[in-house]
Amino acid sequence: MKEAVFDRIARLYDCEQGGVAEDIPFYVEYAKNCGGEVLELACGTGRALIPIAREGVKIAGLDISKEMLDIARKKIEKLDENTKGDIEIAQGDMRKFELKRKFSMIYIAFRSFQSLLTKQDQGACLECVNRHLGDSGLFILDLFAPRHDILAQVKRSLNLDKFYDKKNHLYINRRCEDEYDLANQTLKENRFYEWTDKNDKFHREIWSFELAYLFRYEAELLLEKYGFKVENVFGNFDKSPYNYHSGEQIFVAKKVS
Ligand SMILES: C[S@@+](CC[C@H](N)C(=O)[O-])C[C@H]1O[C@@H](n2cnc3c(N)ncnc32)[C@H](O)[C@@H]1O
Repeated sequence: MKEAVFDRIARLYDCEQGGVAEDIPFYVEYAKNCGGEVLELACGTGRALIPIAREGVKIAGLDISKEMLDIARKKIEKLDENTKGDIEIAQGDMRKFELKRKFSMIYIAFRSFQSLLTKQDQGACLECVNRHLGDSGLFILDLFAPRHDILAQVKRSLNLDKFYDKKNHLYINRRCEDEYDLANQTLKENRFYEWTDKNDKFHREIWSFELAYLFRYEAELLLEKYGFKVENVFGNFDKSPYNYHSGEQIFVAKKVS
């Protein structure tokens, strides 16, 4: 099950991805300007949520993984009382949640929406988002931009940068084997994490997960179907327009009243 994978990934998530920060000023700017409370779906360990709260924005986070949220809670515990008071996180599934209030802005960062593999699951999530937004509320969705040349390879192996495991004081090498299912528009990623401990013992962990990929106009139509008007499609967090090679597609949409 997907959530079990994320529970396993949680242990190393901040060492591996904690340094990713180029999207944060983008979300901070929208959150500060939205004029009300913000909700992050699939908030993970709070990589983006905590910097937004630090800017004085009231923010809630939802994630399916208990382990990810436990790490977020430990980090939130160390914040000053005001910032802590502005944060509320809960375990839940972004396909079916009921928080009994409306938000001025909801966002799904770091391609997390792509964990939803079917149009039904994606639609269920967008329905929940729409229901939890106030009038003209803002929804921001970040997806990777699929490229035909990469899809055409069907399978590919990549060596990724190693990263430092601060807790155990060692470097972890990582590589991945990707396989695209072109009919179902999914990517199966097998990630290999390998390291040698201080006793010279070799370790390998393999994490496998699946992501859906969506093309630009498919995502726009999906957003329109569930009651959003797409105002911008950016190709980067510096707000440059989407282009085929940009790697990212960031949709900024408003709830249609
Ligand atoms: C790549 S991490 C991103 C975490 C965080 N948003 C960030 O930017 O660092 C993906 C997150 O999506 C969460 N997730 C996957 N499926 C979910 C679902 N159906 N409902 C809620 N969270 C989900 C995982 O538990 C994980 O924390």
